[in-house]
Amino acid sequence: MARPLTEEGDGAPSFRPIAMLMPYLWPQGRGDLKWRVVVSVLCLILAKVATVSVPWLFGRIVDSLRGPLKGVAVALALIAVYTIARIMMQAFAQLRDGVFAKVAYHALRQVGVSTFAHVHTLSLRFHLERKTGGLSRVIDRGTKGIDTLLSFVIFSIFPTILELALDAAILWIAFGVSYAIVTTAMVIAYIWFTFAITRWRIKFRRVMNESDTDASTKAVDSLLNYETVKYFNNEDHETRRFDKSMEQYARASIQTQISLSVLNTGQAFIVAVGVMAVMVMAAYGILDHRMTIGGLVTVNGYLLQLYVPLNLLGTVYREITQALVDMDAMFTLLHQPQEVTDKPDAVPLKVDGGEIRFEDVVFSYDPERVVLKGISFTVPAGRTIAVVGPSGAGKSTISRILYRFYDIKSGRVTIDGRDIRDVTQASLRAAIGIVPQDTVLFNDTVRYNIAYGRIGASDDEVKEAARHAQIDKFIDELPQGYDAMVGERGLKLSGGEKQRVAIARTILKNPPILLLDEATSALDTHTEREIQSALHEVSRNRTTLVIAHRLSTVVDADEILVLDKGEIVERGRHEDLIARKGAYAAMWNKQRKAEAARERLKKAEADPDVSPSIGRVAAD
Ligand SMILES: Nc1ncnc2c1ncn2[C@@H]1O[C@H](COP(=O)(O)OP(=O)(O)O)[C@@H](O)[C@H]1O
Ligand SMILES: [Mg+2]
Repeated sequence: MARPLTEEGDGAPSFRPIAMLMPYLWPQGRGDLKWRVVVSVLCLILAKVATVSVPWLFGRIVDSLRGPLKGVAVALALIAVYTIARIMMQAFAQLRDGVFAKVAYHALRQVGVSTFAHVHTLSLRFHLERKTGGLSRVIDRGTKGIDTLLSFVIFSIFPTILELALDAAILWIAFGVSYAIVTTAMVIAYIWFTFAITRWRIKFRRVMNESDTDASTKAVDSLLNYETVKYFNNEDHETRRFDKSMEQYARASIQTQISLSVLNTGQAFIVAVGVMAVMVMAAYGILDHRMTIGGLVTVNGYLLQLYVPLNLLGTVYREITQALVDMDAMFTLLHQPQEVTDKPDAVPLKVDGGEIRFEDVVFSYDPERVVLKGISFTVPAGRTIAVVGPSGAGKSTISRILYRFYDIKSGRVTIDGRDIRDVTQASLRAAIGIVPQDTVLFNDTVRYNIAYGRIGASDDEVKEAARHAQIDKFIDELPQGYDAMVGERGLKLSGGEKQRVAIARTILKNPPILLLDEATSALDTHTEREIQSALHEVSRNRTTLVIAHRLSTVVDADEILVLDKGEIVERGRHEDLIARKGAYAAMWNKQRKAEAARERLKKAEADPDVSPSIGRVAAD
């Protein structure tokens, strides 16, 4: 079972992502990066050694100044060492960051890119069920999570533990075990308190993140549907929905802020108590001559110095928890099993003619409802077969199966006698060109969108394809020609223009097999006729499966299959089907009548004298 893709955790992070990240931080075959890891760990240790020597040196300086002048030379020497130690502490920390940066960003990029590539290999089913905005956020947050984790765990948690251990050891050796115990106890109390409060706070953060995601998906969805919003005058409704998410965000943010104050106050209290205890012990030590003034300064210095990294602990804990959750979501995505996979022994499909054969194909999207109930047909090499039938009959499903967006339940689909499950998906898809009903274009130039059919195609090839698709004249009329931007999803082009861009890029792809899935049904009859000749041009000498709504476009097909509720109810050439007076003939007559009425209506609009009676016929 695939784990669900949660975007938020419950405050109990799994450490699985850290294990998964490791190979990226110690990359095989990248000796240079491994070398950097080693050097940065060395820098880290040296920085901490310098750090813990600072309070100790400071104490020695204080002691050397007590009594007569004899101490001055010693004091100056100590001050020099002290200064060097302070510089080293910073220098090594900076060096460590600089050396490690390349490793971190290498890992970040690798994980992000692999996930992105993997998401593209996931099935259509997966993508239809996911919000695209949500998906890119998972990758976004996941890579940020890695960044956070690396900077915090490697450069905050681990160094702090090291520092604490060194401090405790020095206190123990120099001043006795009781100082080490009090310091350690303070740190433990501090950590316990911080984690407890942070766990309580996490839920506010979670609500904050959720409402943030919610608001942004709502905003994106609403803006994508800009026109629909306008059609129904629903701007206020959209704004209210957005505001609701924002209100939740604001409330959670305030709770987060208040709980942060609780955390900070408690932390300050624990540190103050710890410092007080040590100071009292040190004061007694000095009175008993067991300790020097310098010793007191040293002990105090250690506690205050420890407080600096500890102060960040709450943030670190929360950020790491969040980072782990985000990374977990991303790694889950990265390891999301693919529904449609190549067999291990899959070979590239070699198309020779391109005969398509469906043999008793049974398919369902959900187990409860069978969509194709045993479909059999053959598209002979180079011929054209049409599939017609009411909406929801399963026509597009046939094209999705041929393209192997889904695998079938039983039966076989072959191309030139080869089961499409035995060949690689890449070679299968390279052999098939699809012109879909609704073409969505990339928000780029016309040239880019046409050349998308074959990345790297020359300018001449692009223009040649445009000419065959009969869109060259239109493009030449554009002020920027081929460099004109098509707008988000191609919205600046009309349906017919978009469709011709889609045809042009399919021509450029030059596939032996062509699949037209209601390629013209979104267009008016006039545009359809224009595009029809472009389509004829493309389908010549190619094995073509035409899915059509308007029957007038398929009269020339070598065979017409009438699909209804997942079954082929009639099949044959146009004339034969008309003669049968069955479902096809009925659909044909109905469409003919409607079209005739539309034509008359158009004429009537041009010539107002004969209009009144027409409306009734059109409604028939
Ligand atoms: N991804 C999907 N998940 C579940 N059911 C689907 C999915 N896609 C299509 N269907 C259903 O399958 C049936 C056939 O769809 P389709 O092949 O698109 O019909 P059409 O003949 O109009 O092209 C429809 O009833 C539709 O609701
Ligand atoms: Mg369809």
